[in-house]
Amino acid sequence: MMGSERSRMLYERAHGLMPGGVSSPVRASEPFPLFIKGGKGATLFDVDGNRYSDYCLAYGPLILGHAHPRVVEALRKQAGEGTLYGAPTELEVEMASLISSLYPSMPMMRFVSSGTEATMHALRLARGFTGRSKIIKIEGAFHGAHDSVLVKAGSGAATHGTPDSLGVPEEVARNTLLAPYNDLDAVERLMREQGGQIAALIVEPVLGNIGPVLPREGYLQGLRELTSRHDLLLIFDEVITGFRLAMGGAQEYYGVRPDITVLGKIAGGGLPIGIFGASEEIMSWVSPLGKVYQAGTFNGNPMSMTAGLETLRELREKGHEGLFHNGERMRKGLQNVLDDLGLGYKVQGIGPMYQLFLGREEVWDRAGAMRSDATLFKRLYQGLLHEGVYIPPSQFETCFLSTAHSQADIDRALGSYEKVLRGLRP
Ligand SMILES: Cc1ncc(COP(=O)(O)O)c(C=O)c1O
Repeated sequence: MMGSERSRMLYERAHGLMPGGVSSPVRASEPFPLFIKGGKGATLFDVDGNRYSDYCLAYGPLILGHAHPRVVEALRKQAGEGTLYGAPTELEVEMASLISSLYPSMPMMRFVSSGTEATMHALRLARGFTGRSKIIKIEGAFHGAHDSVLVKAGSGAATHGTPDSLGVPEEVARNTLLAPYNDLDAVERLMREQGGQIAALIVEPVLGNIGPVLPREGYLQGLRELTSRHDLLLIFDEVITGFRLAMGGAQEYYGVRPDITVLGKIAGGGLPIGIFGASEEIMSWVSPLGKVYQAGTFNGNPMSMTAGLETLRELREKGHEGLFHNGERMRKGLQNVLDDLGLGYKVQGIGPMYQLFLGREEVWDRAGAMRSDATLFKRLYQGLLHEGVYIPPSQFETCFLSTAHSQADIDRALGSYEKVLRGLRP
C-alpha cells in the first residue's frame, strides 16, 4: 500500500460536510474510509494510487465487475440520446419482458429507484391488497432504510416491535412482528395468534446482510406452505439473491414461488434501481390501475434500464457456472487456510457470495451471527486492505465475486487472507 494521505485529507473535508463523512453508514470505517477514484474489472483504485482486488463490488450490484465495456458503451450511447424523459420507453418494455420471462412469479412489475423503495412499496401493496396492517419480518434481514423494516430483535421486540432507529414511531414498529430466520415454529405461532391481522411475511431467501446465512432444508418451502395456509402474502426480497443464485434468483434455485418479488442491485447494472412485481391480480392494485399509490420521477429511467438490460443479457450469455465455481474455490480455499492455521472459524456462503465468520459455530440466524468477533473482524479488514484486498468493512456483510474475477485473483486473495489470519489473534 502506498499510503492514504489523500483519502485522509478528503475525509477531513468530508466529515464536516456529510454525517460521518459518508453518504451511507456502511461505508464508514476506522480511522477513515478510503476514497475511490475508479474501478476496472475486478480492480478498484483509490485516490492515493493504491489498487485493490474488489470483493465488495459496491455491496453487490457489480456482478460483471467495474466498467464492463458492453455496459459502458450502451450507457455512452444512451446518454447522448438523453438521460431522462419522464415518459414510457421501449427499454422498460424490453426490461420488464426479460425479467418476467426469468421470474414466472412476477408477470407484472413496477420499476423504482432503489431496493429501499421497492420493499416499501411492496409492503404497502401487500397491506392494500389484504386490508391488513401487520407484517412479519425476519430478524437479521435487511430490506432498506424505511420505517416498517427498521426493526430487529431485542428484548421484548418479538412481541411489540422495538424501533432499531430513532425516529421510527412506535405505532409503526408495533405493526412489525419478528421471527428468527430458519425458525418455522416462531412464524407459525405469530400466524396462529395474529394471522387475521397480518398482510405479509417478508424475507431475504438467503440472508445477506449479516453475512450470508443459508436456509435450512425445507425452510423456504415451509414459509410458502404456512403463508398460504394462513392466507397471507409471501414476499421474497431478492435484492441480493436476484440474478445471483440463478438468472431467476433464489426462487428458481430453491424452487419456491413467492407472491411478491423485490429485485434491485444487479438489475440496475451499477445504476440505481429497485423493482417489485407479482401476479396481474396483485399488481392491478398499483396506481394508476388501482388504489395503492406509487410514483417516481426516476422510475424506469433509460440509464438504469440500459445498464440493467446489458448486464442481464451479458450474464445470461455467460451463465453462472464460472461464478459458482469461483465461489466454491474461495470458500474451500479459505476453509483450508483456517484448518491449516488451526483456527476454528467458519466460512459460509453460496454461489458468488461468501463470508468468514469469526465464531466457533455455523451461523443459521441473526443470534448466531452476533456471536462472531466483530472487533477482530475489523483487524482482518484492515490487514486485507494492506494486502490489496478490498472487502466490506464489517463482519455483518457479504463478500461478492464477479465474472471479472479470475481464479488467479482468488488464489492471490487466499494468500492475503492466509498472511493476515496468521498474524491475527483475538
Ligand atoms: C436484501 C436487501 N433489500 C433491500 C436493500 C435496499 O436496497 P437499496 O440500498 O438499493 O435501497 C438492500 C441493500 O443492501 C438489501 O440487501
